[in-house]
Amino acid sequence: MALFKRRSVKEEVEQDPNYPVVDGLHYLDVLAGIEAHMNPELYLEIGSRSGTSLIPRKCNFVAIDPVFNLKSSDFSSTGDMYFFRKTSDDFFASGFLERNGLVPDLAFIDGMHHFEYALRDFMTCEKTMSRDGIICLHDVVPFNGEMTTRDENYLKIGTAWTGDVWKVVLALMKFRPDLKVDVLKATRTGLCCVSGLDPENSILHQNFEQIIAEFVPIDLVEDGPDSYFRKIELLDPNAYLEGL
Ligand SMILES: C[S@@+](CC[C@H](N)C(=O)[O-])C[C@H]1O[C@@H](n2cnc3c(N)ncnc32)[C@H](O)[C@@H]1O
Repeated sequence: MALFKRRSVKEEVEQDPNYPVVDGLHYLDVLAGIEAHMNPELYLEIGSRSGTSLIPRKCNFVAIDPVFNLKSSDFSSTGDMYFFRKTSDDFFASGFLERNGLVPDLAFIDGMHHFEYALRDFMTCEKTMSRDGIICLHDVVPFNGEMTTRDENYLKIGTAWTGDVWKVVLALMKFRPDLKVDVLKATRTGLCCVSGLDPENSILHQNFEQIIAEFVPIDLVEDGPDSYFRKIELLDPNAYLEGL
C-alpha cells in the first residue's frame, strides 16, 4: 500500500494556515540577485537534478548530484563547468577542490533533504569556502507539516518535499552564533543565506553526533509549527538583497 495517496494539484499546493505564507521573491531570483551582487569566482551546487538552479549561473561552477537529468545544455556560464555524478559526501572526500586550488565563494545546498545530510553539506562546504562567501540552503520554510516528513517516499507523489532541512537553521543558531543566518521568505519553501563563514571553525564537526541526536527526533507536526517559527525571523528577500 502506498504511504501517501496521490493528491490533486489543488491539494499539493495546500497552505496550512498555521504555517507562514511564503510569498516573497522566488528562490531562483534570490540566487540570481546574490550572484549579480557578488560576482562569484566559483559557485558550488549540491543537488542539481534538472539544472534549473544551475543553468542560469554565469560564473564558473561545480555541480554535484548522483543523478543528473538536465533539461537543457544551454548554460549561461562562460567559465569552467565541473560536473560530479556522485553524492556530496563522496565529492568532498575526493579532495577535488583542494587538489585544484579551487575555493567556492557561493554555494547552494539542495541535495538530500534529511537534516543530517544538509547539516553535513553545510559543514563540508564551509570548510572549502572563502570567508566572505555565502552558503544558501533551500527548503527551510515548509508551508505544511506533511512536507517535513523524513520519509523519502513523499517525493514520489510529485510535490514539494522540504524534509527536515529546517532544523539546520536551529542547529546553526544554537551551535554557531558567530554566523549570520538569514531566513528568507523566498517562494516557495524559503531560503537560508549564511554569511560570516569560518572555514577553520570545528564546533559543528566536534559536536556532530550530539547535534544529530538532539535534532533528528524533533518533529514539527508533533511539536507544532510555532516551535520553529517563533524562534526565527522571516526576512523579505528584496530587503536581504538590498542589504548585501
Ligand atoms: C530538489 S532536487 C535539486 C533541484 C535543483 N537544485 C533545483 O533548484 O531545481 C534534489 C537533488 O538532490 C540530489 N541528491 C540526493 N542525495 C544527494 C546527495 N547525497 N548528494 C548530492 N545530491 C543528492 C537528488 O538526486 C536530486 O537531484
